[in-house]
Amino acid sequence: MTNSQIYGHSYPIEVQLASHSRLPESDIKSAPFGTVFGDHMFVAEYQDGKWGKARIVPFNNLPLSPSLAGLNYGQSIFEGMKAYRDVAGGIQLFRPKDHHARLNRSAVRTCMPEIPEDLFINGLETLLDIDRDWVPTGRGTSLYIRPIYFATDTTIGMHPSHNYVLVIFTSPSIAYYNRPVQVLVQTSYVRAYEGGVGYVKLAGNYAHAMLASKQARDAGYDVVLWLDAKNRRFIEEFGTMNAFFVLDDMVVTPRLTGTILEGITRDSVLRVLTDAGIRYQERDISIDEIREARASGLLKEAFGTGTAASVAPVAAIHGDGFTIEMPPYAEWKVAPMLAERLTDIRTAAVPDPYGWLHKVDSKQLKINPVLQ
Ligand code: COI
Repeated sequence: MTNSQIYGHSYPIEVQLASHSRLPESDIKSAPFGTVFGDHMFVAEYQDGKWGKARIVPFNNLPLSPSLAGLNYGQSIFEGMKAYRDVAGGIQLFRPKDHHARLNRSAVRTCMPEIPEDLFINGLETLLDIDRDWVPTGRGTSLYIRPIYFATDTTIGMHPSHNYVLVIFTSPSIAYYNRPVQVLVQTSYVRAYEGGVGYVKLAGNYAHAMLASKQARDAGYDVVLWLDAKNRRFIEEFGTMNAFFVLDDMVVTPRLTGTILEGITRDSVLRVLTDAGIRYQERDISIDEIREARASGLLKEAFGTGTAASVAPVAAIHGDGFTIEMPPYAEWKVAPMLAERLTDIRTAAVPDPYGWLHKVDSKQLKINPVLQ
């Protein structure tokens, strides 16, 4: 059965429903991250200086010319965000307007047109409404949402493209890391540098990080610890996560200098810390300071934060000739509190004092009567 309908908003969305849902055959509670995808995707095109009609279609391949500007010159950015099943069975998007704002910051940095907020939010709401059965139930689960936005000119002149496409697709997800992570300090390569693109979600940032990450994984570690490009002393990120440390009763995290991703989970953590009465500092943190803090007993916890990983405890940090083992997890207080509090807020188990939740109302755009 294929339906087609226009969803009334300032940017109309044409909906073409999949003939059947792949959900009943999909193992959404144990599939590895990013391997199973929701039935539909949202597609909006920017052409001739304006956004055209948007559509929701069955998840499918995109037609790509080899001369595509996004492929040739890397004008390609993305977001990572999540929807949660709340305790009443509803669907909640977490901070979608903040993700939209960050996507536009990435767009501005890469010379791409900004995306209107209502196009993005209405597209998300409609997609999530249609694929609401893909949002897993169970604490710690979520539907990961991946907006990608890239240049679609098919000429290879080196200039900002005139045409672009925004695609949003989804993937049910469980915990990104299933154990505390082993971190390897990276001293040969850097992730970002002042004046560069480290603060935005440029696809190239991730390509750029892959060799070091692979080498770390091949050597038995989970993620890389990135140091600053200038001094090779100050901690920037853990893999694809913002870095946090607990030093006695003070939480510290690297300040946003333009080289560090402006994490939405990072920001959420800082808000929750404030309201829990836990002091924090955003400042430069050298790897030597962390070594000394461990030696003096000041270092209590280290963890990464990110959309995919949420709050991921660090087991140990390994450098050239040293290992910083974290105290036993059973003694940790801050990271477990943050993980619990964020999960409670995201699932509406407690009131959301920050206005972070965005409920997806049901408009009955279901594809498969079997799932209703
Ligand atoms: C996210 O946490 O959403 C990211 O974009 C990281 C990615 C490598 C899964």
